[in-house]
Amino acid sequence: AEALRVGIAGLGTVGASVARVLRDKGAELTRQCGREIVVTAVSARDRSRDRGVDLSGAQWFDDPIELAEKADIDVFIELIGGDEGAARACVRAALDAGRHVVTANKALLAKHGVALAEVAEKKGVLLNYEAAVAGGIPVIKTMREAMAGNSVNRVFGILNGTCNYILTRMEAEGLTFEACLADAQRLGYAEADPTFDIEGNDTAHKLAILTSLAFGSKIAADDIYLEGISNITQADIRAAAELGYRIKLLGVAQRTESGIEQRVHPTMVPTASVIAQVHGVTNAVAIETDILGELLLSGPGAGGNATASAVVGDIADIAKSRPGFQHGPVFGRPAKELKPYKKAQ
Ligand code: NDP
Ligand code: HSE
Repeated sequence: AEALRVGIAGLGTVGASVARVLRDKGAELTRQCGREIVVTAVSARDRSRDRGVDLSGAQWFDDPIELAEKADIDVFIELIGGDEGAARACVRAALDAGRHVVTANKALLAKHGVALAEVAEKKGVLLNYEAAVAGGIPVIKTMREAMAGNSVNRVFGILNGTCNYILTRMEAEGLTFEACLADAQRLGYAEADPTFDIEGNDTAHKLAILTSLAFGSKIAADDIYLEGISNITQADIRAAAELGYRIKLLGVAQRTESGIEQRVHPTMVPTASVIAQVHGVTNAVAIETDILGELLLSGPGAGGNATASAVVGDIADIAKSRPGFQHGPVFGRPAKELKPYKKAQ
């Protein structure tokens, strides 16, 4: 079969890791997908920066929109970030040009996901976004593909690696909030603007995507009750510990009699509970359904390799899909048929 040609826009923590994994695992991916995956085009702001991986065989584009529209590619990978500007414009351009898209951009999907899904579904291309929620944990595939027939009652979890890393180290090592955040940034876990992590917005973006998959509703991140961890102090953590609790930033979406409730806030969880044992950059997602009961997925929630694993999985799915195959809806049901979100009263 012909090689699958991919273009990567954004060569930061995630983009450079994806390029590295595609290079280092090329033979294994070819064996698994039955065809080679080749990076033919790349884009970032600074052409001269060393990305730690040889990209000289790929065509360079200063403008990711030009890459999306004109490059010799089958799949466009958006790893720039942000809900407007270059990221939104190049994803839209790639879909309009009939190219498959893979993105890790939860902020973009939380704001424009339904509109972008409509374009993808109209064009008959894939818009894959496994890396956008809970890093390397395959929660999107699980919810879209492996839970047919189940009705979800509740989905909740630790969805931000940076916050869990900060809370874990503050408790275990007595470090300050600021020192832990600086380390999370250095390790590539935090968003370009870490306010999105520590004020809970990133958790809200991910929760809104999960809510849509769980309940078939439109994505409604603005309707989420939101409280981050920036005010959590050592005294709070110690007080919780004395009472037998640990503080975790949770995102929770659940069915209630008056609609769907979505909230993000620091929560005291019993020290002996499973969710309290989720440490560091690890994320966890619990899904409660009528048939399956409770499913708990946990694993690395942020960082180059974990995120690249999910992005490469999405690319491999496209490499394995057959020409002429009709792709299913992006959010589990056709974007046009997603119900308006009914906020709990
Ligand atoms: P980085 O800030 O490390 O990388 C962003 C990249 O985008 C950089 O290479 C930058 O170029 C490039 N870029 C910025 N603006 C433009 C532009 N206008 N045109 C072309 N390129 C541009 O971010 P991350 O890699 O951490 O994150 C990328 C995406 O993945 C985000 O949506 C993020 O939310 C998401 N994500 C991140 C995770 C993580 O652990 N880091 C985990 C899951 C999702 P240059 O390098 O030249 O400055
Ligand atoms: N900043 C995000 C986090 C990246 O810390 O979880 C993964 O989405």
